[in-house]
Amino acid sequence: MKTIAYIGTSLDGFIARKEGEIDWLIQFDDQETSQSYSEFISNIDAIVIGRGTYEKVLTFPTWFYLQKVFVLSSQTKQIPDSLKEKVTVLSMQPKELLLHLSNKGYSNIYVDGGKVIQSFLKENLLDELIITRVPVLIGNGIPLFGWLDHDITFKHVHTNIFSNGLVKSHYQKKQE
Ligand SMILES: NC(=O)c1ccc[n+]([C@@H]2O[C@H](COP(=O)([O-])OP(=O)(O)OC[C@H]3O[C@@H](n4cnc5c(N)ncnc54)[C@H](OP(=O)(O)O)[C@@H]3O)[C@@H](O)[C@H]2O)c1
Repeated sequence: MKTIAYIGTSLDGFIARKEGEIDWLIQFDDQETSQSYSEFISNIDAIVIGRGTYEKVLTFPTWFYLQKVFVLSSQTKQIPDSLKEKVTVLSMQPKELLLHLSNKGYSNIYVDGGKVIQSFLKENLLDELIITRVPVLIGNGIPLFGWLDHDITFKHVHTNIFSNGLVKSHYQKKQE
């Protein structure tokens, strides 16, 4: 099983403004960035997001995930009828969740949302990071990374520089 985070961050390390706005990020969406995302997502068979990301995605005009989505939440109970086949809400810790997904046959897991990524990193359960730096400082917001009680060393795999100034770097965790 492989776990991968694919996420956009401001130069100062935020994934959204304090209230969750990502206007500073989506202004850079273009054909190159969406092709890069399509290539990544085509190898994914399950998506894990936190309640924060789920609530944001629900505000978009359409549900765009093609793969099964697992929402981590201790609070969310109701899922809209139109999403009942596509979304499952679970209240689990990362290790337990990965065992659950593995038992269901999933092997390439996309992990998304700031707090969720941090909780996976705390348990050293993220194998790959694909981080796209957006050339803007937003000064404040929801951070990508947080406190860790151990170092995690990654190997740089490659970096793409998009014509609009975004820089996407792919890292794989070094085997201990
Ligand atoms: N820049 C990007 O590429 C990008 C990507 C994704 C999201 N975002 C933005 O990031 C914001 C959401 O990020 P976020 O950090 O606030 O939230 P998040 O990680 O999406 O969700 C966090 C919530 O998930 C629940 N949760 C349950 N189990 C958890 C676990 N093991 N670890 C962590 N959380 C768990 C908790 O909610 P309960 O209280 O329900 O338990 C927690 O408050 C949104 O505004 C979204 O638009 C940006």
